Amino acid sequence: MLHSTLAASIPNQLPEPDIAEVIRWRDSSYAADLYIAAVSWLDLFTYLDEAPATEAALRSHFQIKERPTRTMIRLFESWGLLSNVDGNLRATASARRYLSRNSSENISSYIATMKYKSSVREIYDVLRLDAPDTWHVERGDTTNWDALMQTDDFADLNTRGMEERGRIFAPDLARLLDCSQDTAVLDVGGGSGVYSAHLLNRYPNLSATIFERPPVDQLAMQCLAERKLPAARARVIAGDMFVDPFPKTASLHLYSHVLHNWGPEKVRLLLEKSYQSLLPGGRVAVYSCHPDDRGGHPAPIAEAEYSVLLTTGYEGCCYSFEDMRSLMEGVGFQHVDYRRSICNRSLITARKLANSPG
Ligand SMILES: C[S@@+](CC[C@H](N)C(=O)[O-])C[C@H]1O[C@@H](n2cnc3c(N)ncnc32)[C@H](O)[C@@H]1O
Repeated sequence: MLHSTLAASIPNQLPEPDIAEVIRWRDSSYAADLYIAAVSWLDLFTYLDEAPATEAALRSHFQIKERPTRTMIRLFESWGLLSNVDGNLRATASARRYLSRNSSENISSYIATMKYKSSVREIYDVLRLDAPDTWHVERGDTTNWDALMQTDDFADLNTRGMEERGRIFAPDLARLLDCSQDTAVLDVGGGSGVYSAHLLNRYPNLSATIFERPPVDQLAMQCLAERKLPAARARVIAGDMFVDPFPKTASLHLYSHVLHNWGPEKVRLLLEKSYQSLLPGGRVAVYSCHPDDRGGHPAPIAEAEYSVLLTTGYEGCCYSFEDMRSLMEGVGFQHVDYRRSICNRSLITARKLANSPG
């Protein structure tokens, strides 16, 4: 009796976070810093309160670079601080009310009290310089992700992280990506091989090649051995995806969380290489976080926030569906398709023509 009285007096338990939320706290970690930088270092919303501006005008006025500017615009559209009407960016009523110095209710100085926070300074530098050197690792001189990934300790830490994330995402990728007609997948920048492993489990006629740069190739080999995948079905090729040729035996190329690390020129180069080396009628599959902008809607908040992290620490961003479609069709792929996955991820596939000479 006493117990039931006590239980009744305990307030309702708050809902616990799901995996999407647990991942989002990490993926969104730079978004607030970009907001503080834009309000404090740029005073963006006072400027837009005075007159709407195009993206190009914004870049020229603030002397900021194209890639981070686009990421910033997508973030503020998703948060309801900016609207884009025919290419003209306007501060919304809330942004004008609270974030423009022309408003008696503005709190810009309150936000600017955080302007010297180191990650806010970093992201302001990214806006101005587009040089994503923000990986602070105590040992070593470099803070560039690409260089760090070629050192043993960092490659190990990063690959473990990607493996853990992959254990959550890979079953869903294997569900979404029908490989029943495929014979061989090339998993470009495949990390530990976790996505390939799940595809192999689901599709018994499939074999997989993980294409990885040293030292991650060695980690991939260890992981495949631990998974007890037979050598006839899973192997690793060491190489630089930008430089070394791809084998011409795969009907499917998988890029999971790879293209979003790079700018459009390098993405185009990789897609072009895939198009040339895939078997006729083969497909490319890109798995990451891709805002679905087919209806002209702003990116969902979680996806716009993750793009800030990618813009800050890497050369890339979250490419939207239309970004990817244009890149894929630009090198010859057709039938570009979009499927939603879990945790704000999505899968974009496209096909090489069966009679293509490439
Ligand atoms: C963000 S991780 C993604 C790993 C895995 N595909 C996943 O989804 O978890 C990017 C991978 O690309 C690999 N990579 C980066 N540059 C590369 C290059 N030039 N050639 C081959 N692999 C590269 C890295 O070693 C890393 O494993």
